[in-house]
Amino acid sequence: MINAPEPSGQPGAFAKLSRRDVLKLAGSAATLAVGAAAIGVGGRALAGGVVEPLNVKPTPGLLRFRLTATPAFVQMRPGAMTAVWRFRYRLLEGDGSYLTPGPGFMGPTIRVPRGTRVICDYSNNLSEISNVHWHGLDIPADQDGHPKDFVEPGGTRRYDFVVDQPAGTCWYHPHPDMRTGPQVYMGLAGLFIVTDKEEAKSRLPQRELALVLQDRQFGAGNGLVYGDPSGVVGMLGNVVQVNGEQLPTLALAAGPVRLRLLNASNSRIYKLALSDGTPLTVVGTDNAVLPTAVNRGYLMLSPGERADVWLDLSARANSEVLTLRSLSFNPFMMGSSSLVNGAAFDVCRFQTSTAPTTPAAAPGALVPFEAYTLAGASNAANPRLYPIGRDTTTNPDLCQPCWTLNGVLYTLTGLESNETVPADTLEVLQVDNAANGPVMPHPIHFHGRAFQVLSRARVTGNSSTQTSYNGVKDGFVDSGWKDTVLVWPGERVQVLMKWTTHRGLFVYHCHNLEHEDMGMMRNLLVV
Ligand code: C2O
Ligand code: CU
Repeated sequence: MINAPEPSGQPGAFAKLSRRDVLKLAGSAATLAVGAAAIGVGGRALAGGVVEPLNVKPTPGLLRFRLTATPAFVQMRPGAMTAVWRFRYRLLEGDGSYLTPGPGFMGPTIRVPRGTRVICDYSNNLSEISNVHWHGLDIPADQDGHPKDFVEPGGTRRYDFVVDQPAGTCWYHPHPDMRTGPQVYMGLAGLFIVTDKEEAKSRLPQRELALVLQDRQFGAGNGLVYGDPSGVVGMLGNVVQVNGEQLPTLALAAGPVRLRLLNASNSRIYKLALSDGTPLTVVGTDNAVLPTAVNRGYLMLSPGERADVWLDLSARANSEVLTLRSLSFNPFMMGSSSLVNGAAFDVCRFQTSTAPTTPAAAPGALVPFEAYTLAGASNAANPRLYPIGRDTTTNPDLCQPCWTLNGVLYTLTGLESNETVPADTLEVLQVDNAANGPVMPHPIHFHGRAFQVLSRARVTGNSSTQTSYNGVKDGFVDSGWKDTVLVWPGERVQVLMKWTTHRGLFVYHCHNLEHEDMGMMRNLLVV
């Protein structure tokens, strides 16, 4: 299956950018230039909502495909086509259900049963270094897309791994040092869905709909504008897109549907709620299904996080419209976009397309879950500390401040003594967001295995962060597996992490992609 033909464009000259250059680029709010000729690929609109049947193939197999990162033009909005970067693909071997067109302009959706071997022959047709990170997958270090394992422009490499983890929603995107933000913003991302028998036995709906949230800013001629004028908040667009479309209306027939929400935005945090106050029924967080569905009046979704939501509009009149909104909240640093972080806006609309019927019973218990305990952690009395901080001295001319993790800025292979960790061992980790001065929330992501949130506590007495926290804290869902956790200003989050069995060099970082690019990332050596 071919989503779009591979291009014939020549990669441009390659220059390794310094962190300084990247920040200059960000500071100038430059429109990204894309050097390839148009190749005439039209966009696929949502066309009123696409609900795919959940196609669980219980027998694991082999998926072999080609994946190419390349410049392209797409019809993102009325008027001129928009220059983007896209993943093109071709299925080489395996069941057709394993690799299907992604939502909007995203890369193909990979959907494989647990146990499947995935072979991805990757080509970099961009004019800068890139690679692929498989976010949420627990795979060997040399297949994970570590920033040091980048692919040169015009280069290729093979990713080859076996998916052996419970069902859930993962995704993939580039992960080169200092360039992840612009590359994801330009369109390089896709969904990676794992299915398994436990999930098939649960009462999760057979129909599903992926909703990928990204914000963008358009300049003259519909060109994408990328930049972070403040240098500290991250890229914020003023147009919020769902699957590449602004405020789409999605038709939903009677019966329950599983929404797979992914926040693939660079730095925008969403506080999601339904317009009529109906609670959101969350059935999955990050890369796994929850043990039991939970209801939330609103749901916080920060960059990198996923949430699976069960929705049944069966009882509603035909053509009734329900809006998914993002409510306002105070993130302290709101950015200088005309749609600030924390602003309220509509995300998408659901419209019933059939006559009312009796809704399905709520999903209830879902899949088996083994809860970790603090007592089971090998360092129970002595958590591994990875504080969020700021570096105003090392590179004072680059970012003011540079956000840091574990007290230092990223280097490709640099390791602090507390960043060598024991494979397959349960530990407690602690991330404090207690910096004085400028503060903002940071979504912290660990590569390798998923973890469980043990506790959230307030560690500063600052009353303004407490007030802001009160407006978001009921939107965290911490009862299942997580690979990215939002740490609010003044907050201490402890997580229980059983380090991966795969030995080697991984990273952990802030998933605000501009923070990551500016050095809010660290290595982890699993031994
Ligand atoms: Cu989605 Cu290291 O990130
Ligand atoms: Cu951050």
